[in-house]
Amino acid sequence: MTRLNNVVAIITGAGRGIGEAIARRYASEGARLVLADINQDAVTSLASELSEHGVDVLPLSIDISDPEASSRMIDESTEYYGRIDVMVNNAGVIRVKSFLETTTQDWDYMQSVNARGLFFSVQACARQMLSQVPLADGRPTGKIINMSSIAGRSGRGLICAYSASKAAVIMITQSGASEFSPKVTVNSICPGPVDTEMWVKIDAQWAAIEGKPTGSVWSERVKGVPMGRAQKPEDVASMACFLASKDSDFITGQSYHVDGGLLML
Ligand SMILES: NC(=O)c1ccc[n+]([C@@H]2O[C@H](COP(=O)([O-])OP(=O)(O)OC[C@H]3O[C@@H](n4cnc5c(N)ncnc54)[C@H](O)[C@@H]3O)[C@@H](O)[C@H]2O)c1
Repeated sequence: MTRLNNVVAIITGAGRGIGEAIARRYASEGARLVLADINQDAVTSLASELSEHGVDVLPLSIDISDPEASSRMIDESTEYYGRIDVMVNNAGVIRVKSFLETTTQDWDYMQSVNARGLFFSVQACARQMLSQVPLADGRPTGKIINMSSIAGRSGRGLICAYSASKAAVIMITQSGASEFSPKVTVNSICPGPVDTEMWVKIDAQWAAIEGKPTGSVWSERVKGVPMGRAQKPEDVASMACFLASKDSDFITGQSYHVDGGLLML
């Protein structure tokens, strides 16, 4: 399959989990990649594996909570490839804490990566995308895909600060889509519980707070999924592929649930 032939795509948080699955899917669809992560070893090793299979890859070490670093990421990517067609703002963090025990440090940690960091990354990327010509006449000049969550759609106990940061992603998506249309599309993805290291951490913290055995919070959530199985990073990568492809050129400002039907709104 080559739905993304020669498309230049940046993926943040590409070192593992959902970001890694998106990187692998994009690579298999013919994209040229920038893999950005705070974990330099992870992106360097993924980049060398993919480049051995003939994929163009630029690994970058970046802390997305630093807006100057985001700006440098866009400059370095543009210098390397000459343009940026797709940007997936996927890097994100979580701490499970009760409403009353959430500290200013917890709040700032999640906001600084998930909302503030993402905002300035979108801003830096949009500046480049708005200044370039489309890959083909009549197409957008760029596509931005932001990783939200179903937690950004519906609040629940123990993850207030995380939910608030992911709700911000949906609003950043809608505001960006309004300002950057018709040149640049901005959409987001709201996954349900996905089988990654993030959920291993969520399960451990959640179970400790509620005095439950490790693994039980994850299995309870999976039991409630109408599609009857745990969500895989590749399920999210499929939506990220659609939103990066020509098939979604007329779609902007939308936030898609990819959660096996867990949240029907
Ligand atoms: N796993 C889930 O159930 C789930 C559900 C909904 C939404 N999401 C969102 O999807 C995204 C990816 O989740 P995941 O499960 O793959 O997480 P993960 O923790 O497994 O991987 C996150 C990646 O982001 C990187 N990262 C963290 N902070 C960073 C920073 N400041 N700068 C750059 N990179 C940074 C990490 O090094 C890691 O490689 C996140 O935004 C998350 O909030 C995940």
